[in-house]
Amino acid sequence: MDLLINDKVAIVTGASAGIGLAVARELAAAGVKLVLTARGEERLSQAVGSIQQQGGRVIGVPLDVTQADAGDQLVRAASEKFGGADIVVNNAGRAHPGGLLDNGDEEWRKMEDIKLHAMIRLNRAAIPVMTERGWGRIVNMSSIGGIFPNPKLLISHVLSAAINNLTRGLAREVANRNILVNAVAIGAVRTENWEDNMIPKARQTRPDLAGLSDEELIARLGAEDTPVGRFGRPEEIAAIAAFLASDRNGFVTGCTVEASGGAERFF
Ligand SMILES: NC(=O)c1ccc[n+]([C@@H]2O[C@H](COP(=O)([O-])OP(=O)(O)OC[C@H]3O[C@@H](n4cnc5c(N)ncnc54)[C@H](OP(=O)(O)O)[C@@H]3O)[C@@H](O)[C@H]2O)c1
Repeated sequence: MDLLINDKVAIVTGASAGIGLAVARELAAAGVKLVLTARGEERLSQAVGSIQQQGGRVIGVPLDVTQADAGDQLVRAASEKFGGADIVVNNAGRAHPGGLLDNGDEEWRKMEDIKLHAMIRLNRAAIPVMTERGWGRIVNMSSIGGIFPNPKLLISHVLSAAINNLTRGLAREVANRNILVNAVAIGAVRTENWEDNMIPKARQTRPDLAGLSDEELIARLGAEDTPVGRFGRPEEIAAIAAFLASDRNGFVTGCTVEASGGAERFF
């Protein structure tokens, strides 16, 4: 399907790995010019290099999206290099394990900064530019836990619910400017987030998983919790994000699309 976004300009956060990198590749294949960001410079420049090798037009801007001026910096970089910004994919971050009694103010604030405030700031910086250009698409990465909260990931899931509401409300605020805003409620998708964050936590909270290899554990959780019987792949999320970010999408806005293989929980 031609997404009809050749030559559009996209900003993708958290684009050096996992789902963000898959989104960047999908948009590059559709002819979109890209501004990618993540904190780690080396991995970001590898991501940029690999997309350039495929003929993609892309720059990397290494930064932490929790910086107060990160949104402005990214929109400025897109404007200086490519003349503006049409698409924003807010993807940076990862889940933070634990329930209410496991986490204090610092953890809540840190996660609010990355999941919510960074998203609000980048959207606020990009919308005036999209308005001038008469076209815009915003995709906010959320979690299936924003609809079905799991106490093992409480901070992430409370903030995912906030992202879903931000998405629905903002969509109405900007709908008459030809800017469409949607979220993706992601289920279990195998990325580094699982390798070094979720798998150790799953072993800790589920003694029955402790003796399993990573592969066995992922297979077990996929079979137990996800009706389609497996974890998702980053490319499967990227395909949805690219459609929502495209001109083929003209009538979906304010929506949180569930991409979880039918699952309501991770582990
Ligand atoms: N994978 C899942 O099962 C799943 C499920 C539900 C929701 N999600 C959501 O989907 C999104 C992507 O997840 P993922 O699994 O692909 O994660 P990942 O593999 O851990 O990749 C995260 C990306 O975000 C970047 N990043 C992290 N903190 C950042 C910061 N403060 N500023 C700028 N960049 C930052 C990372 O690079 P640096 O570390 O170098 O900055 C990396 O590029 C996240 O928002 C996550 O919460 C994922």
